[in-house]
Amino acid sequence: MAVDVLLGLQWGDEGKGKIVDYLAPQYDVVCRFQGGPNAGHTIIIKGNKHVLHTIPSGIFRPDTMNVIGNGVVIDPITMCRELDNLIDAGLSPTENLLVARKAHLILPTHRMLDAASEASKGDQKIGSTLRGIGPTYMDKTGRNGLRIGDIESEGFRQKYSALKEKHLGLLAIYPQIDFDLEAEEVKWFEAIDRVRELPKTDCEYYLYKAIKADKNILAEGAQGTMLDIDYGTYPYVTSSNTMTAGVCTGLGLAPHHIDKVIGISKAYCTRVGSGPFPTELEGPVAEKLRKNGAEFGATTGRPRRCGWIDIPQLKYSIMINGLTHLVLTKIDCLNDFEELSAATHYKSADGTTDQLPYDLNSAEVEPVYQSYPGWNQDIGHCTDRSSLPTDLEDYISQLERMLDTKIYLLSTGPERDELIHCS
Ligand code: GDP
Ligand code: IMO
Ligand code: MG
Repeated sequence: MAVDVLLGLQWGDEGKGKIVDYLAPQYDVVCRFQGGPNAGHTIIIKGNKHVLHTIPSGIFRPDTMNVIGNGVVIDPITMCRELDNLIDAGLSPTENLLVARKAHLILPTHRMLDAASEASKGDQKIGSTLRGIGPTYMDKTGRNGLRIGDIESEGFRQKYSALKEKHLGLLAIYPQIDFDLEAEEVKWFEAIDRVRELPKTDCEYYLYKAIKADKNILAEGAQGTMLDIDYGTYPYVTSSNTMTAGVCTGLGLAPHHIDKVIGISKAYCTRVGSGPFPTELEGPVAEKLRKNGAEFGATTGRPRRCGWIDIPQLKYSIMINGLTHLVLTKIDCLNDFEELSAATHYKSADGTTDQLPYDLNSAEVEPVYQSYPGWNQDIGHCTDRSSLPTDLEDYISQLERMLDTKIYLLSTGPERDELIHCS
């Protein structure tokens, strides 16, 4: 059968966790294909909040297998903490979880390098989550990394020590940072002992066989398209390919297996960390969006920067991902606005365009806004598209027209079932 992809179209935190959890019963396998514990995917089930960082968001569905794919970077400490949280919530997560042997390990010294590198950047800092993501992917591409499969090899301790020494050498060029390496190493090796016992897989063979056996597979993205290492707002990005192309390398899948590409956008826009954000707002409207949407990072707790939805940015993401299905989340967070806006174009010295410039960091672009009347009412009672207030229907029809894409699901609240099927 086919592989569907679900990913973020903006700068992350679009609500991927909620939608994967909702869709998971339709799939035999859910696989994370990139990123690591920089991700924070929130799932709310009957008022109980769960935040996943490494474990795929299909874990709450016992009949769905969850695979942490080759393209993911794993911090064993965080992963074990997630497992414990799930066990405390009454789940048996090791029964429907597999870890890819080729996934890379985040060492404590990777986190030290992340912190030291960020500290040295001053006001140019990326705003990293400091989970060691960049240094771990650097070791992967630099061909120095340690992988999950290495845990099973005899020389694992020596390999660890060699890499740690290399990191300590590198750290000497940075100003000192506060980090209790000895204590973190103890926790890390305890977690490694637990990871040794977890079921592992050669992800590429596992998925190939699943496809041959007619299983349905969903690839779950982390971060968002604008944080993609190649096509995001470089250098203010993460260190992996967050777009559809990353599914093939992250899971060892041939491209022709990919069918639906489901992209998620908020009904407005947020960003956490540094870097360009053309439609960013300041003042009371930004505060209201932050308050209505509880816009504080699921991983770091940082307040998220907030602004209006950005059509040129979404058109770009739709284009590079080959989007087939659009999910619009957090529409309820706009319920009490008299008027809403969407940036339809950018104005620059060269004229008006709906294309993103080469470098959003240095380009002087000014968003051109279109305003829309708010619907000014609660929508909790709406269960299908035909019951939506007229102004809301008009607003989402305009978005569909501008994006040339139909909305598939409209998310009306954080709970698992607060969704309207639109097409
Ligand atoms: P992810 O990283 O893409 O999985 O998203 P996060 O979990 O970081 O952030 C999304 C936040 O919005 C979480 O707190 C979700 O519970 C919440 N959320 C998701 N969909 C909706 C929605 O439609 N309405 C509201 N009010 N909250 C939502
Ligand atoms: P989910 O999966 C939002 C941002 C960081 C920083 C930049 C680089 O929950 O949507 P990194 O730690 O990767 O070196 O940080 O990317 N970032 C995210 N922003 N959601 C995420 O994940 C993010 N993961 C990383 O804030 O600006
Ligand atoms: Mg998140």
